[in-house]
Amino acid sequence: MKQHLQHPVFSVISKLAAEKNVQAFAIGGYVRDIFLNRPSKDIDVVVLGNGIEFAEAVAASLNVKVSVFKNFGTAMLRYQDVEVEFVGARKESYRSDSRKPIVENGTLEDDQKRRDFTINALAISLHPDNYGELIDPFEGITDLNNKLMRTPLNPVETFSDDPLRMMRAIRFASQLGFRIDDEAVAAIKSNLQRIKIVSQERITDELNKIILSPLPSVGFNYLFDTGLLHIIFPQMAALYGVEVINGKGHKDNFYHTLQVLDNICETTGDLWLRWAAILHDIAKPATKRFEQGHGWTFHGHEDKGARMVPKIFTQLKLPLNEKMKFVQKLVQLHLRPIVLSQSVVTDSAVRRLLFEAGDDIEALMLLCKADVTTKNEYKVKKYRQNFELVQQKLKDVEERDNIRNWQPPVTGLDIMQLFGISEGREVGIIKNKIREAILEGEIPNDREAAIKYTIEKGKEIGLKVVAN
Ligand code: CTP
Repeated sequence: MKQHLQHPVFSVISKLAAEKNVQAFAIGGYVRDIFLNRPSKDIDVVVLGNGIEFAEAVAASLNVKVSVFKNFGTAMLRYQDVEVEFVGARKESYRSDSRKPIVENGTLEDDQKRRDFTINALAISLHPDNYGELIDPFEGITDLNNKLMRTPLNPVETFSDDPLRMMRAIRFASQLGFRIDDEAVAAIKSNLQRIKIVSQERITDELNKIILSPLPSVGFNYLFDTGLLHIIFPQMAALYGVEVINGKGHKDNFYHTLQVLDNICETTGDLWLRWAAILHDIAKPATKRFEQGHGWTFHGHEDKGARMVPKIFTQLKLPLNEKMKFVQKLVQLHLRPIVLSQSVVTDSAVRRLLFEAGDDIEALMLLCKADVTTKNEYKVKKYRQNFELVQQKLKDVEERDNIRNWQPPVTGLDIMQLFGISEGREVGIIKNKIREAILEGEIPNDREAAIKYTIEKGKEIGLKVVAN
């Protein structure tokens, strides 16, 4: 283990542990990540004794500042590229209505067994007497090798102590591609309601980590199967299921959504594009109809879905800013490229799409490609070819017409000056006509043509040119 303790901060801690005759250990995520070969910059140190005093001594020796959190009994310092948090070993008990523990001093093992998972309970001694020795009383290394999330104590106790750990179990499983131990899954099911004492920010933080994991369906399947999803994100759980009328079923929109999400993860690491994949069909349950002679339809699910986005973002405490607008736009437009690719692809339809999507056109195309989940090879091939065609057209139209971040070549002010009128309905009418003419390809996207067209349209509604 010693080779993994190269950072100079460890030798200072070790020296002070000897001088002060206290035991100190690296513990938790930092140790786990050594075995997973994931370099980490956050070091947790547990001290048998007063963690704050020890941290102050280390900080003095390194000549850096220390931040003390008296209420939590912790202290933190930054040294070079790492952040080190010190805490005294604890034996904890929890009140049932809060995540804030009542703290008592304890042994190293007391401290390890109150941690969330065996893989997060590994400790390495930093005292010179046994420097680098691994202390693993709960077989965390075996679980790491078996890719298993397991709790050191009975999982009912571990999860009941801190219900956020139910989300953490699923998040780690999704990030690392691990399985969750059966008993722990059962404990999540029996503790579900306790998630309600956890703040929305922390739940959403874990949810976002699941979404950013290599294969988010791993996490979402656990969320759904345990019942957590129904509590934290009921709109997504509602996508589940297939209804059959007259022998006709529709696809299961929950599993379809997971497939789209996994697909998009192959092409983007962007959290918000991944959110767009999650939400693209979110209004399907609310818009579902069975039309006689036709089958299942979800008319307007893109509009309703776009309207649901701000509500869901508010509920999940996601930011209500341009990221939300981006997700909303993609949900709104997600059918457009596929509709385009199914019919004759006209220049004007492509121009309109480019006009509405603007700089988000590439993201929209990625979403649409990810949305093709049919198992029918023939259909997949056809869609792909059509997408290529749409993409080529987008490029041509873009080069020729410069429509992506379209600014009207004739402004409202131009119109007012040209006809000597003040702000009002006519200005709006003419502006719309100019935009439509450009999008339809009736006139080119340039000022000269647009002025000429403006004069024509103005005359049609009885306006006279007063300036040139
Ligand atoms: N821990 C815990 N229960 C929690 C949160 C944390 O027992 N609800 C313990 C675990 O031992 C964990 C350590 O505190 O390893 C540090 O927690 P944190 O920094 O939140 O997570 P990491 O395990 O380091 O993982 P990540 O950085 O990916 O969140």
